[in-house]
Amino acid sequence: MDRPLTRNIHADRRPIDLRGYRDNGGYEGLRVGLGLSPADCLQRIKDSNLRGRGGAGFPTGLKWSFVPMGEDCSPGHKYLICNADEMEPGTFKDRLLLECDPHQLIEGMILAAYTIGADVAYIFIRSEYHIAAQRLREGIVDCEREGLLGDNIQGSGYSLHMHVHASAGRYICGEETALISSLEGKRANPRAKPPFPQVSGLWGRPTIVNNVETLSNIAHIIERGPQWFNDLGLTEDAGTKMYGVSGRVKNPGCWELPMGTPIRTVLEEYAGGMADGYELRGFLPGGGSTDFLTADHLDLAMDYDTIGKAGSRLGTGTLIVLDDATCPVGFVKNLMDFFAQESCGFCTPCRDGLPWSAQVLDDIENGQGKPEDLDTLERQVEFIGAIGNTHCALAPGAMEPLQSALKYFRADFEAHINQGCCPWKARQ
Ligand SMILES: Cc1cc2nc3c(=O)[nH]c(=O)nc-3n(C[C@H](O)[C@H](O)[C@H](O)COP(=O)(O)O)c2cc1C
Ligand code: SF4
Repeated sequence: MDRPLTRNIHADRRPIDLRGYRDNGGYEGLRVGLGLSPADCLQRIKDSNLRGRGGAGFPTGLKWSFVPMGEDCSPGHKYLICNADEMEPGTFKDRLLLECDPHQLIEGMILAAYTIGADVAYIFIRSEYHIAAQRLREGIVDCEREGLLGDNIQGSGYSLHMHVHASAGRYICGEETALISSLEGKRANPRAKPPFPQVSGLWGRPTIVNNVETLSNIAHIIERGPQWFNDLGLTEDAGTKMYGVSGRVKNPGCWELPMGTPIRTVLEEYAGGMADGYELRGFLPGGGSTDFLTADHLDLAMDYDTIGKAGSRLGTGTLIVLDDATCPVGFVKNLMDFFAQESCGFCTPCRDGLPWSAQVLDDIENGQGKPEDLDTLERQVEFIGAIGNTHCALAPGAMEPLQSALKYFRADFEAHINQGCCPWKARQ
């Protein structure tokens, strides 16, 4: 099985340095890419059908094509930003790529920046990812020394300066326009779109924000071609995917597998199935802000369209498993507490609605719920969950686990209200 993203990652998770990376064929994609025009590089990424791995699955080549290029672009800086914030609950795929193979990301970023004509690139990294940040900084210095970054890269005439910027540590900093505000030194509030960052982003200049996993794919696609990348996927979606599983399974972890691998294969073959004594009740397929799916969905392909049609989202592709010994109300309440705390406070439905939802869930979990609370939660799901009622996707995302829990685990909510206690706690 071809696993381009993790080919340099070993079980002991020791990082690969510049020398080791080059010995294993690294920076060959850069050599190929710098020999092509930016337009040819863009065409390769478009033809590869790579979709952004940050959660929304937006086509990467299409996004890049919105950046004004050539005569369309007024003189001045253009920016590339790698989104390495990774604060989505249950998501730890980017960390592996950042810590173990920093040069794969750096090489992909140089090629992405070359394609869109950016002269400055930032890696905006989660504040807790100290090890990854250090390895990236060392990698950048090594590249500068070898002429792979800085002025006139490899004699090509193209120059790029790259910097690592640690986040101040809020989930909203991962939203691309809030990230840009934060990088500018402002409060991390999301911005209205349009204008989109591709046209007016960092300091009002054309800016591309891409996820770590997205950018880690770029050098491979440039070097090995779009058809190779398309052929990696098992379904319509191209490439491989970093899948992860957390919760009460035998072998929680993170694996690179062909895009479209069945959920059952990820859960049973790679995560080893449920831990002894526990049954599967459901799972969030792509991090904490996706809708629950259940055992009935296990044979679905883990790709963007299939999971979307099943009523959820592929999101980050990292499953969070709900087992039969865990209270689904408490599970959802825990997530709602997180999202309420992480609201940037800019718009009322999110700032006030999420703590209200968390309080109603807290009441139900603690045996003080009333039958009408379920109607309140349904109304909040409908209003706060509607795209367009809030300024960014944090609030609708926060509603996804709740709305699907009310659909699949409604009897559990009712049991709490009818019995005046949490049945799981009562059993302990
Ligand atoms: C609240 C919130 C948090 C987000 N956090 C991240 C994150 O940590 N990493 C990430 O890549 N994308 C995150 N996103 C998505 C980004 O806004 C953006 O779509 C993504 O970085 C684009 O990269 P891609 O096209 O490569 O997927 C978040 C979105 C929202 C609404
Ligand atoms: S939805 Fe929440 S996080 Fe997003 S802008 Fe509104 S208050 Fe801020």
